[in-house]
Amino acid sequence: MNALKNTNQLYQNRDYQSYLEKITAYEVEREFCRHNLSHFLDVARIATIKCLENHMKLSRDLIYTTALLHDIGRFEQYEKQTPHEVASHQLAILLLVELDFDGAEKSLILSAILNHRNSQSSGFDKIFYESDKLSRNCLICPAQSKCDWSAEKKNMSLTY
Ligand SMILES: [Fe+2]
Ligand SMILES: [Fe+2]
Repeated sequence: MNALKNTNQLYQNRDYQSYLEKITAYEVEREFCRHNLSHFLDVARIATIKCLENHMKLSRDLIYTTALLHDIGRFEQYEKQTPHEVASHQLAILLLVELDFDGAEKSLILSAILNHRNSQSSGFDKIFYESDKLSRNCLICPAQSKCDWSAEKKNMSLTY
């Protein structure tokens, strides 16, 4: 059995794919920090390492599903300025109905999505917040001058 059963099922979901296509269309001209599968997998892999380091026993399927969902509402931020953690959280509630996670697991996933831009978060939410930031390769970014991240926030050395 595939260890990422839910993650793959989510990725194949037609609604999920249509949201991804919208984000891709909005970000054609974006030079840096796109919100695509590559970003989601970077976040998922760093969060997996961090969960292991913190002895947090969460399945890889749960971590990857959270990563695939955390920015999925980004197109609504482009369309209506809805903060994308809020839009992603709303879309994730509906997408999770199709997946095989129990209530406690869904709560963990949804909380991490809603808090992925909250620097004051804790537990899995905090791991997710940090992994999202660490996933960006600022040190090789050609658009550094156009980025609104502070110098301290930028990843200028290799950590994960
Ligand atoms: Fe985000
Ligand atoms: Fe992200």
